[in-house]
Amino acid sequence: MTQQRLYSGMQPSADSLQIGNYIGALLQWRDLQDEYDAFFSVVDLHALTQPGDPAERREKTRRTAAQYIAAGIEPSRSTLYVQSHVPAHAELQWVLSTLTGFGEAGRMTQFKDKSARYGTDATNVGLFTYPVLMAADILLYQTDVVPVGDDQKQHIELTRDLAERFNQRFGETFTVPKPVIQRETARIYDLQNPTSKMSKSAESDAGVLWLLDEPKVSAKKIMRAVTDSEGAVRFDRDAKPGVSNLLVIYSALTGRDIAAIEDEYAGRGYGDFKKGLAEVVVNEFEPVRERALELLADPAELDRVLAVNAEKAASVAEKTLADVYDRIGL
Ligand code: ADP
Ligand code: NA
Repeated sequence: MTQQRLYSGMQPSADSLQIGNYIGALLQWRDLQDEYDAFFSVVDLHALTQPGDPAERREKTRRTAAQYIAAGIEPSRSTLYVQSHVPAHAELQWVLSTLTGFGEAGRMTQFKDKSARYGTDATNVGLFTYPVLMAADILLYQTDVVPVGDDQKQHIELTRDLAERFNQRFGETFTVPKPVIQRETARIYDLQNPTSKMSKSAESDAGVLWLLDEPKVSAKKIMRAVTDSEGAVRFDRDAKPGVSNLLVIYSALTGRDIAAIEDEYAGRGYGDFKKGLAEVVVNEFEPVRERALELLADPAELDRVLAVNAEKAASVAEKTLADVYDRIGL
């Protein structure tokens, strides 16, 4: 039986990924790569919507790819590649943009929020058409399944609409993908501001646990994490967002139930709990960090692996694009 195809990606928008990317994406990708014919992209074209220095941009792309591999995405089992290495993404995006209503794109909340906050002149057309590029990413590979957080649901809906629209107008061409929504407990919050999502593009990184942080830096950030004055290690998202967030991280990395962790720390203070968590996080990150640094020490070999994978990706993407061009009369 042939495997279903799965597609996902992340922006290379920082030197390191953060623990939310690890728990919410990489750990799940790692588990999914056997069950699916998986494509994992470093979406550097998407990252162009933010300004950046060219040399730093190139380095972030390499570092992101290295962290995928270090976290267990195997480039021999999954297709792990850099988006801009496959020109078909930008080509299909153009075609799909001619099928997307201006109002339809304008209703995408990420663009609406950003342009409302900073003004339309401080945003760019790339941000406006970002969801169409995302649709192209997914549809190029005849993707069956897309694992997404609920903040991406609207983009997957647009992707499905565009696939159906194209198929209806020009004949069956695209697989219409299905979203797989992540568990709510896979969402990690900022350690200093535990009601907002941890993000690699956060303004301050005091509450961000970077995958490539040195162990003592991770430990320090955990020891300083915001909690509350109750002193009990107990899960309650509303009343105790800080402690609950730490419990979720603990549980995600150890595979233990939150209740079992609460029991273990019953009657003990936050200091003990944080020390325990710091140990868990450092133990998890250390091998990943070491492997990533090893991969980054040999950029030529990393580039070779990425080039081989880009070729694998391109062979699938080019077939879809040729089909599309044929059907629309190009
Ligand atoms: P970031 O906000 O760090 O730039 P992205 O929005 O680029 O992250 O998301 C990349 C992937 O990481 C997505 O699959 C997303 O669901 C996951 N992710 C990002 N932040 C978190 C988080 N705080 N908790 C869980 N998953 C997250
Ligand atoms: Na696979």
